[in-house]
Amino acid sequence: MPHHDSPTPSSSSPHDADWWRQAVIYQIYPRSFADSDGDGLGDIPGVTSRLPYLADLGVDAVWLSPFYPSQLADGGYDVADYRDVDPRLGTLDDFDEMVATAHRLGLKIMVDIVPNHSSDQHVWFQEALRAAPGAAARERYVFRDGRGDDGELPPTDWPSSFGGPAWTRVADGQWYLHLYAPQQPDFNWDNPEVREDFHDTLRFWSDRGVAGFRVDVAHGLAKDLRAPLRDLGDQQSYQPDALPVDGSHPLWDRDAVHEIYRGWRQVFNTYDPPRFAVAEAWVGTSRRMAYASADGLGQAFNFDFLGARLDADEMRATIETALADARDVGATSTWVLSNHDVVRHVSRYALPGDHRKRDVEAWLLTDGREPAPDLAAGERKARAAALLMLALPGSAYVYQGEELGLPEVADLDRADLQDPMWVRSGGRVKGRDGCRVPLPWTTEGTSFGFGSGGSWLPQPSGWGRYAAEAQSGDAGSFLELYREALRLRRTLVADEALAWAGSQEPAPQGLLHFERAGGWRTASNLSDEPVRLPQGEVLLASAPLTGDTLPPWTTVWLRTGAASVSRSGR
Ligand code: GLC
Repeated sequence: MPHHDSPTPSSSSPHDADWWRQAVIYQIYPRSFADSDGDGLGDIPGVTSRLPYLADLGVDAVWLSPFYPSQLADGGYDVADYRDVDPRLGTLDDFDEMVATAHRLGLKIMVDIVPNHSSDQHVWFQEALRAAPGAAARERYVFRDGRGDDGELPPTDWPSSFGGPAWTRVADGQWYLHLYAPQQPDFNWDNPEVREDFHDTLRFWSDRGVAGFRVDVAHGLAKDLRAPLRDLGDQQSYQPDALPVDGSHPLWDRDAVHEIYRGWRQVFNTYDPPRFAVAEAWVGTSRRMAYASADGLGQAFNFDFLGARLDADEMRATIETALADARDVGATSTWVLSNHDVVRHVSRYALPGDHRKRDVEAWLLTDGREPAPDLAAGERKARAAALLMLALPGSAYVYQGEELGLPEVADLDRADLQDPMWVRSGGRVKGRDGCRVPLPWTTEGTSFGFGSGGSWLPQPSGWGRYAAEAQSGDAGSFLELYREALRLRRTLVADEALAWAGSQEPAPQGLLHFERAGGWRTASNLSDEPVRLPQGEVLLASAPLTGDTLPPWTTVWLRTGAASVSRSGR
């Protein structure tokens, strides 16, 4: 396998305002990426030390999940100070050095911003607790009197997303709102001070050279807080597709949220190049792109792709909708297979049945042995899905370790679980720790090269076989598949259009087949039967090819030389 000792320069110059439209963005979950000081927790200097690996992998940008001061009640998504680095993870100087190193390597840095709620350790919340009911300090959050004769009942029936009620009572008898853990009080976005403060935070990181932001719970900020607060009644269970499409839910995806992001866009556009953001918005498909509009954030995660079955018809429909919706607002689509909140896709695809939510949930309730995963099948499908994703127009978000083919660690000892979901669900749902186990870098050694100490979540004994060290240079490995795909992608991606092949004649069952500009064709056989290999020179395949067949669960990239294909899209 040829080694790319110097990274290919990005197709976009550092000042290209459109760099994100066709980017590959690598998500780092800092606690679990690389630990430079041996305390078992990944840190910023650890990230810096591994940036050459990411440049070599061929990504355009890195998105860091929260690294801010936090008591880690929700893995860092409980932020105590939005403009600092957690001392356990480094300093602002370390952050600056990371950015400088990234820029030298041609990589951009994006950071996570958590605007729906802070940590209860945030100075504002501490001030609110000390203040009396009705004081201005309480108006930055959502404090209310309870119901019942003595206010002993929560103000509404709103549930926390991690289980239990969304209200916690404080000493003087008032209740505060937290749609997640009690250590994550929700901000009151009707308060101009909150809005101004987030503008300052966006400027703070933009001034430090950050290219963009991933916006946590982007659909949650604008709540209907008018008195009397409305109960949810039968709207309690949260399903993105079941949210009202007119934006009338009291908590989620209200139209007023876009006014907040128009304000953010004005801040972004004072920079050259303008800063960019991607929304994490678990909303219905038809509502998603409002977050990605040109006067809004720029992009929105397309979780339909992550949730779709690996089935040609379902994938094709999901892809078509995503491309059309993005085009409508002048954005590009995003593609996500894994992140720090979901079961790693090797394991999802390894489950029997259709690996949809219900299978995964059933599995999360057990010790990860029932239903039994078929990891070889999962890996094969994950490789096919990766080449499919990386061939699509738009931006691909790769979650750390996905390029190593890491599976979910589904049998973590209960005593080691740290996700608030585990505790708040009363031990019913194991939660998300299984996709957050620290990465293996070396085949042996303390914590497989993650750091010189242990690791905050135990790594399985066989973890070394997935190590970057073990895969580097092995042409059949996941890592080399991703490296080669990203290298080719840079030479191949020419525009944002995609044309489905074979629209005249019905494609064989299970075949997903499309063309990109410049004579590049992708065919995925998402079935158990071999199909005929479409014509073209093979550039890359997710599994070995034999003769002129495309084996089951395989994606191939082909060069056809045909310069003109009919295009859907621009
Ligand atoms: C987002 C994050 C998740 C976190 C939640 C609350 O969904 O991705 O990890 O628990 O928001 O901040």
